[in-house]
Amino acid sequence: MPGVVAYTFDDGPGIYNDLLLSKLASKNVTATFFVLGSMIAANTDGLKKILDHGHQLASHTYTHRSLDDMSVGLMQQEMNATADIMFKYSGIRPRYMRAPEGRCEKTCLKVMADLGYVVTHWNVDTNDWRYKDEKNPQVAVNKSMKEVNEAIVKKSDPAKDSFIILQHEIHKFSVEYLVDAVVDAVQKKGYRFVSIEECIGKPAYMDGSVVPATSHKHTHYF
Ligand SMILES: *[C@@H]1O[C@H](CO)[C@@H](O)[C@H](O)[C@H]1NC(C)=O
Ligand SMILES: *[C@@H]1O[C@H](CO)[C@@H](O)[C@H](O)[C@H]1NC(C)=O
Ligand SMILES: *[C@@H]1O[C@H](CO)[C@@H](O)[C@H](O)[C@H]1NC(C)=O
Ligand SMILES: [Zn+2]
Repeated sequence: MPGVVAYTFDDGPGIYNDLLLSKLASKNVTATFFVLGSMIAANTDGLKKILDHGHQLASHTYTHRSLDDMSVGLMQQEMNATADIMFKYSGIRPRYMRAPEGRCEKTCLKVMADLGYVVTHWNVDTNDWRYKDEKNPQVAVNKSMKEVNEAIVKKSDPAKDSFIILQHEIHKFSVEYLVDAVVDAVQKKGYRFVSIEECIGKPAYMDGSVVPATSHKHTHYF
């Protein structure tokens, strides 16, 4: 879909999630959160808050181990356990998943398709995790903006192009400063932020999911 950007945050729900939600709300930006099953037990309110703010939830597996190194049974367990704990704390089972490190070869792709998942990659990477230890957050922000500036600001045309941006919600500078830089650059260039569901077009959640009325203005689940 031309003219849209899906802004995605991986590896949460983490300790900066509340700050991220209030930042996105103040900027009127919709995002998608690829969460880890293993993070949910420590932040059991996180998923509901994400939904209540109108964002989309998606799966990033349970343990963040490489799917390509697992047996089919283990891959299924990763996905099922994540969907189960997400359902327990939010009422939804996600349809979209992102593989840890984006690694999902032929067998993994088949397992995901058989379970009904849409495997979701990205085409702009902030690489924010590489810069989390920079002493000056502004240096980290500038480095993380490299692909956004090259691919979106310099080279793209909102009449034809669209992007999925990858970022992580577990690094402080990334939530505190990088979000502002990304949102400003993307909006200034004339793009509209949408959920992955709106960008790709398949419903965000599996049948049987119960989505709060405040969330997901675009699709209803019965
Ligand atoms: C927020 O975004 C929505 C959807 O893009 C738009 O309809 C609405 O006008 C925006 N509101 C403000 C205050 O910018
Ligand atoms: C995962 O769930 C699917 C159904 O959703 C089921 O067919 C499969 O056997 C489950 N696999 C494991 C290992 O739990
Ligand atoms: C970051 O980039 C901006 C704009 O390109 C520049 O003005 C600023 O000096 C840079 N800051 C650092 C700390 O590199
Ligand atoms: Zn990850």
